[in-house]
Amino acid sequence: MNQIEAIEKAKDHFAKLLEAQLLRVDQMKAGEDWVDYSKLEPIIIGVVGGDGIGPYITKEAVRVLEYVLAEEITRGKVKLQDIPGLTIEERAAAMKALPEEALLALKKCHVILKGPLTTPKKGDKWPNLESANVSMRRELDLFANVRPVKVPEKGIDWIFYRENTEGEYVLGSKGFLVTDDLAVDFKIITTPGAERIVRLAFEYAKKNGIKRVSAVTKANVIKTTDGKFLETARRVARDYPDIQFDDWFVDIMAAKLVDEKRRKDFKVIVLPNLYGDILTDEAAEFQGGVGTAGSANIGKRYAMFEAIHGSAPRMVDEGRAAYADPASMLRASVMLLRHIGFVEAANRMEMALDICGQFEKKVVLTGRSGGATGTQFADYVMETIKSPNLESRWKSYQR
Ligand code: IPM
Ligand code: MG
Repeated sequence: MNQIEAIEKAKDHFAKLLEAQLLRVDQMKAGEDWVDYSKLEPIIIGVVGGDGIGPYITKEAVRVLEYVLAEEITRGKVKLQDIPGLTIEERAAAMKALPEEALLALKKCHVILKGPLTTPKKGDKWPNLESANVSMRRELDLFANVRPVKVPEKGIDWIFYRENTEGEYVLGSKGFLVTDDLAVDFKIITTPGAERIVRLAFEYAKKNGIKRVSAVTKANVIKTTDGKFLETARRVARDYPDIQFDDWFVDIMAAKLVDEKRRKDFKVIVLPNLYGDILTDEAAEFQGGVGTAGSANIGKRYAMFEAIHGSAPRMVDEGRAAYADPASMLRASVMLLRHIGFVEAANRMEMALDICGQFEKKVVLTGRSGGATGTQFADYVMETIKSPNLESRWKSYQR
């Protein structure tokens, strides 16, 4: 192929991508309403165990959920439903990131609790399919990836609003080799896409009496897409005059998160997809590692709750899966409960998790056979939830 042909081919490829993205912009502009969970009966919680340690830690989260929702489940207000077909073996056999049937089953649920799913990468034993996580976020239009990180004794109380359907991710499997030597990927930011995530972040701040929202970009270098994200954030900020708005470049923000004097001042942080991916792993590390962090993927119609870490196949290979920390999935379950309106149950479970995982620490996981198992930790959490003086116990640890 000569150069002219290569460029023509690239143009055709690019044109198709643009058509799909313009369609997505139109759909976002048309908008839809947020679901009202109080009107649903039953609220169906789909459960995806995932790969590697996923089924082990998900099982513990389900046990605790069944415990705190026992009454609602008996009454028929809530139903938990297993969603099969999404393990890496099943995705590889179907040669699809999200096999048809599994997607249909997901769409029959209202919210989803999902264990980590293995993402194939070039050179491993799986076909190089798109990440099922990324695909699910896109197919269910879960545009907000909400990731809280709290370390009370260090004064850290952050909540990240990571854009979840655009950036480098949306066309991450649609890059193009123009020639063998020239690889091109695409980064997408749209006005309605940026606007909806920034607005959600500001609305959260407003509802929770938080006085500061910070945006993160690299708009000094990535001028067009990050420039649009930043410009949109500034415009939306004008609708919230009582909330301070500031913006940071991602490199210095990565540094500020380790600055003990300054980092306490950050509250709500809103950012495009890839920067959100990176900074939330960094942030979770202060809380005790990615194993302790839960994550909510919120859309108007569906929502999915998950751990922020991967499936840790090595732990399974080494026979350590039972020792995997279920805290991430338990935190994700707290977010799920709150999202569907069971605030009281969510608060109790969250207090118990703080006590068990951060303060009292009577059952400690090490990821190895010397430490506790995930099941022992979940038992400890349920016992703590049951405790009649849960709230005063929790308060005694607050400074
Ligand atoms: C996350 C994960 C995913 C992501 C991977 C598994 C595709 O790192 O949820 O942060 O990059 O979003
Ligand atoms: Mg990540």
